[in-house]
Amino acid sequence: MRALVYHGLRDVRVDTVPDPTLEHPNNLILKVTSTAICGSDLHLYDGFLAPFMKEGQVLGHEPMGEVVEVGSAVAKFKVGDRIVVPFTITCGECFFCKKELYSCCDTTNRKPELGQKMMGHAPAGLYGYSELTGGYDGGQAQYLQVWNADVGPVKVPDGIPDEQVLFLSDVFPTGWMAAENTDLEPGDTVAVWGCGPVGQFTIRSLWMLGAGRVIAIDEVPERLAMAQAGNAETINFKEEDVYDRLMEMTGGRGPDRVVDAVGCEAAGHGAFDAVLDKVKAAAFLTTDRAHALREAIMCCRKGGTVSIPGVYVGFPDKLPLGAAMNKGLTFKMGQTHMPRYTEPLLQRVLSGEIDPSFVVTHQEPLEKAPEMYKTFRDKEDAAIKVVLKPWA
Ligand SMILES: NC(=O)c1ccc[n+]([C@@H]2O[C@H](COP(=O)([O-])OP(=O)(O)OC[C@H]3O[C@@H](n4cnc5c(N)ncnc54)[C@H](O)[C@@H]3O)[C@@H](O)[C@H]2O)c1
Ligand SMILES: [Zn+2]
Ligand SMILES: [Zn+2]
Repeated sequence: MRALVYHGLRDVRVDTVPDPTLEHPNNLILKVTSTAICGSDLHLYDGFLAPFMKEGQVLGHEPMGEVVEVGSAVAKFKVGDRIVVPFTITCGECFFCKKELYSCCDTTNRKPELGQKMMGHAPAGLYGYSELTGGYDGGQAQYLQVWNADVGPVKVPDGIPDEQVLFLSDVFPTGWMAAENTDLEPGDTVAVWGCGPVGQFTIRSLWMLGAGRVIAIDEVPERLAMAQAGNAETINFKEEDVYDRLMEMTGGRGPDRVVDAVGCEAAGHGAFDAVLDKVKAAAFLTTDRAHALREAIMCCRKGGTVSIPGVYVGFPDKLPLGAAMNKGLTFKMGQTHMPRYTEPLLQRVLSGEIDPSFVVTHQEPLEKAPEMYKTFRDKEDAAIKVVLKPWA
């Protein structure tokens, strides 16, 4: 089959690789019809997990398609079903899955010793996301082996276009959980750093959960425009000081809740902490660039909540813990607990409450994936969300 393969720093290629075969009776084989590129893929592409990347790994964790083969123990799906596959691999039976903390699943990471060393405990297995999360091949490919198929994937009806349900694989539930994690009270003002796909779905989810005001922060005009189309007020951090502007907008109190939908590759434009991050990251002295998170903590009102869907991988420094402690902030974060959200959010899509395809700017053949990684990373051609078609 054809698949997008990791070769090294900013070097991904579409190669011919062996088709996946069933390695366990709980698994199924998916013929992928659509598969998206995620901001999380850019962290791999840009080397943030380089020590844990193996050349030859198939990337991608936002796939959907048609079931073409099922293991003997799979009960929920049959050949011919159309399904969306969440990015996390979960067992549904361990201590954490029983508490619905699915991204903390204790049994699906095949290489837990790495996570234990880096993080104290290993996170769940994820598709196409380095040895740290189990070294599973991903879904930017013509076929994908779906593990533990009865837990996680959702069946979608025929007739609805891929682009309306594809993002149940990650960014819609991730935006939803980010909004839920703000613990907002009705009418609250919420500020969202980052207007990529995760930020966009956070904005829409915040309204559905009862926010009174949403303020979105980015520097990319078309992403700010998409946030405005989602009824957010916006701040362009390249043109305005974010702290000053937010204080002006909230009478000096600060937003009640803040969301960091940027993660470890924040831009800083000369801010002292951001320059230091860049220098230290280049010298391998720090792992993450946390400018957005620092700013969000400084801006949040006293007693507010900091929700972090943005991915951090290691040991970001200069975090203003003094501000967080003395302002009495609450922090909530994590990889998304996917199976909690997929069915309820599918119902919201089917009922017409939201059409997630609004975020798609590019649909391209899988063969163009290397070019599309670059386009998406560099925000060229107004790219916000790229969907790849493996059979085009
Ligand atoms: N928690 C999860 O389970 C989960 C799932 C999917 C993605 N993510 C993470 O969410 C984050 C966002 O993903 P995405 O797909 O939207 O990525 P993206 O790269 O498209 O979006 C990030 C946005 O942040 C903006 N940005 C950069 N620096 C900023 C700053 N200082 N202030 C405000 N905005 C800034 C960029 O211009 C960009 O628009 C990534 O870290 C990704 O890994 C987490
Ligand atoms: Zn993703
Ligand atoms: Zn589990």
